[in-house]
Amino acid sequence: MSKKILEIKDLKRDFIMGSETVHALRGISFNVNTGEFVTIMGSSGSGKTTLLNILGCLDKPTIGNYFLDGVDVKTLSRDELAMLRNHKIGFVFQSYNLLPRTTALENVELPLLYNKDVSAAERRERAVHALEAVKLADRFDHTPSQLSGGQQQRVAIARALVNEPVMILADEATGNLDSRTSYDIMALMQELNSAQGKTIVFVTHEPDIAAFSSRTIQLRDGQIQKDTQNENKRSAKEMLENLPAVEDY
Ligand SMILES: Nc1ncnc2c1ncn2[C@@H]1O[C@H](COP(=O)(O)OP(=O)(O)OP(=O)(O)O)[C@@H](O)[C@H]1O
Ligand SMILES: [Mg+2]
Repeated sequence: MSKKILEIKDLKRDFIMGSETVHALRGISFNVNTGEFVTIMGSSGSGKTTLLNILGCLDKPTIGNYFLDGVDVKTLSRDELAMLRNHKIGFVFQSYNLLPRTTALENVELPLLYNKDVSAAERRERAVHALEAVKLADRFDHTPSQLSGGQQQRVAIARALVNEPVMILADEATGNLDSRTSYDIMALMQELNSAQGKTIVFVTHEPDIAAFSSRTIQLRDGQIQKDTQNENKRSAKEMLENLPAVEDY
């Protein structure tokens, strides 16, 4: 039986800007069960990133409740929160956020450096395994500038996976990528979701990307406009297979 991994109740987030208050989130409530693949859509400024940052414990709501795996995050100390975030959540951003002049392998090892229980040898082994899982076994020693955008995003996904989180949060993770590379990343997300049971919350403003998820939450002006199950979820792997072959030139 699936259980609730996320539960948010009447979440609001205000930003005070001088004499003005921006109401970025105006009362949002929903649950996500373990193993769901949810996309969050909405136009620019509708509150997607604000919401994702709160879900990832990078930011706190002005008011409202957030339970992560049954734990009320409000009751946690800074250290406890950092620990929970490290163990449960992997982040993927639009701009990859990799360290330049640092190899793929070292970038993926990074989150494990904060974990004193993991030896250097185990760190290396887990980073190798994570890069293999995103099909970059032949790019360990490449630095970000020596990788394509799609490869950099796969390194970022490997880094998000290396702590074996239960949930992946992605903010416009395909935003800088062409269609083919986007489908490639979505095929990887679908595999992580179906084969490994990872819960995924994926922010996008592209409907054709949302079609790969099983549920879409549409935001508008900081509120939920629609929350729908996707009955006709598309397979990114099949889409890729049916794309015309890339011309050699
Ligand atoms: N740190 C901040 N300080 C002040 N206002 C903010 C801050 N972060 C976000 N906002 C405001 O909150 C609203 C929601 O912003 P948010 O970044 O969540 O939008 P978004 O849906 O992610 O948009 P986009 O698709 O452009 O990324 C916007 O009006 C934005 O200007
Ligand atoms: Mg955003």
